Amino acid sequence: MFFQQTETNNYEIDMERVPQHIAIIMDGNGRWAKKRFLPRKAGHKAGAEALERIIEDCRDLGVKHLTVYAFSTENWKRSQEEVDAIMDLLRQYLKNYFKKFLKDDIRLNVIGDIHRLDQDIQDSILEIEDLSKDKTGLFVHIALNYGGRDELRRAITKIAAEVEQGNLKAEDITEEMISDHLDTANVPDPELVIRTSGEERISNFLLWQIAYSEFFFTDTLWPDFNRASLEEAIYYYQNRERRFGGR
Ligand code: FPP
Repeated sequence: MFFQQTETNNYEIDMERVPQHIAIIMDGNGRWAKKRFLPRKAGHKAGAEALERIIEDCRDLGVKHLTVYAFSTENWKRSQEEVDAIMDLLRQYLKNYFKKFLKDDIRLNVIGDIHRLDQDIQDSILEIEDLSKDKTGLFVHIALNYGGRDELRRAITKIAAEVEQGNLKAEDITEEMISDHLDTANVPDPELVIRTSGEERISNFLLWQIAYSEFFFTDTLWPDFNRASLEEAIYYYQNRERRFGGR
């Protein structure tokens, strides 16, 4: 076993048992900004910077898939100013950061229904998904206009169409088939889900995929989440037993 004693904290990570897939609900940008008497969009900017660092950290630690909840189907209800600020950050992200990430062997995938996003954003997403498709270091899945129920609804619609066309019998629908019709088809389920900022809810994130995941909740606000926080979460995960319902 190869253990890594980190410089940043005392959490000893077993590098051979790092989760393959980590999913993160990045929460607390607004509170981070409020504490500093800054506008909410400054919190999202700091959150985007934290994400950039965590992507590199996940790759360095050997994580294979990272899924982050960047914009939910509910987030459209926020003020137009805040939605615009997040979309502008996303534009910058796609333009600058992923050009950089491509060099770092990082692949991009977006989950969620991207059709509601502005056309230029949709175009950049498709371009970067294509440009990065052969990268193998880390696969980053960004959830945009994503809701777990909406994802299931879209999957069921596709399966129902196959039944309607006579290509599939309703009684032959398997769990595997459902997984294969989700936005995360071919992605292993996350072993570890992290939520920052002290909230302990799932908020419609990856509802199907988290059936056997471990959860790590931390009071740290997302912009403050760093390598040490990530290692703490992985340490916590490694010290839990996963039984998948068996004994
Ligand atoms: C939750 O904090 C955060 C969001 C809804 C947006 C997440 C966005 C980012 C991390 C940055 C943008 C990243 C990309 C890729 C565009 P909150 O606003 O709910 O915080 P609060 O609960 O403290 O108000």
